[in-house]
Amino acid sequence: MVKQEDFAVEQFMDKYETHIDNNMGETCSDSLSVNQLFELVKSADPKFSVEEQQKLLTDKLLNTKLTYGHIRGSPALKEAICALYNDDSGKVGGDITEENIVISNGAIGANFLTLYSLVNADDKVIVVDPTYQQLSSVSSVFSQNKKNVVQFPLKFENGFLPDLEELKSLIKEHSPKLVIINNPNNPTGIVWSDAIVSEIVEICKADDIWLMCDEVYRPLYHSVPQDEQPKSIINYGYTKSISTSSTSKAFAFAGLRLGWVVSREKSLIRDLFSKRDYNTIAVSTVDDFIATLVIQNYKTVLQRSYDICLENIKVIQKAIDESNGLLSWVKPRGGTTCFIKINIPNIDTYKLCSELAENYGTLVVPGEVFGNRSGFLRVGFGNQAMSIKNGFIELNKWFKNNGY
Ligand SMILES: Cc1ncc(COP(=O)(O)O)c(C=O)c1O
Repeated sequence: MVKQEDFAVEQFMDKYETHIDNNMGETCSDSLSVNQLFELVKSADPKFSVEEQQKLLTDKLLNTKLTYGHIRGSPALKEAICALYNDDSGKVGGDITEENIVISNGAIGANFLTLYSLVNADDKVIVVDPTYQQLSSVSSVFSQNKKNVVQFPLKFENGFLPDLEELKSLIKEHSPKLVIINNPNNPTGIVWSDAIVSEIVEICKADDIWLMCDEVYRPLYHSVPQDEQPKSIINYGYTKSISTSSTSKAFAFAGLRLGWVVSREKSLIRDLFSKRDYNTIAVSTVDDFIATLVIQNYKTVLQRSYDICLENIKVIQKAIDESNGLLSWVKPRGGTTCFIKINIPNIDTYKLCSELAENYGTLVVPGEVFGNRSGFLRVGFGNQAMSIKNGFIELNKWFKNNGY
């Protein structure tokens, strides 16, 4: 067994997250309480009664016996998730059913379960880079050799868009069982368009390769015109596609720890459930119930997340414009994160971010925790505008105090 590496981004965040003034590390859309959810829904639908819903929820939470509940997730939850995939741009979708869904503990559980099911000793896996470290680290544990995990690098100079010729040649060289992408991407905030995703699907299909897309930031396409927005990976007509996601990011309910895997491939679904018996049994009955409410109202929640992100992107654009060339970026088009480049040769961004957190009350994640992308800062913009405004003021102070 390959020794599990430390999860660099989670460890960096954990160290500072709970006692920081300006949190630009957070990647969730500003998290909501259930009462805030009700108020939001009420503002979109005046007929909605907050009091009635509060009573229903309280009765349910206080009086439901906390058994394991529906082992595979409640029918209502799965129905809500189906809609999330079947509403998909109205282009293909429409036929995802409960049979295609496996409920998990967050997207992190969904990713783990998928890799646990698919990746066996000596299997090769191609993983987009940069991305959430779990996707490559856990793949290397199951494939039992770090060398079996091949990075598919995205470059700032190419707007973090994929070089599909390079992908083809990596596939030719390594014959992977699985290709893993992440759209919208963490940390870059880049969205690969419908056209790009279609091509990637065709590439994988040609060689019968599994294609997994971590879609935890979908459908937060705040800056992508409707006709360019990609569908979920499972809606491109390729059975060996897998989507993982959760209520955490676009839908502002990370505390529920509720995620899912969706695939049309029945043998995979069977295997996921078989593996899940050993590490999940069922998700919390309480989480299942609240997540159902969240997803049933996902369009309202999503609109709020769009508004927050668009407002905050303006704040960051201003900070970049006023940085005298010290900072540049590929403007994010989806998700809640961006990857800002610091135009200072050989800058140690790990040291910068540690000092910012320890002496300037500001949390930003260094590029070093994303496969050693020194020179970049990951900034989360799904949260309070004030944190971002003040965070950039502190970053400027750091620059000044360090002679830049
Ligand atoms: C790309 C990506 N996938 C998965 C996760 C895990 O999310 P969850 O809270 O749903 O477990 C994260 C969290 O930051 C993420 O950025």
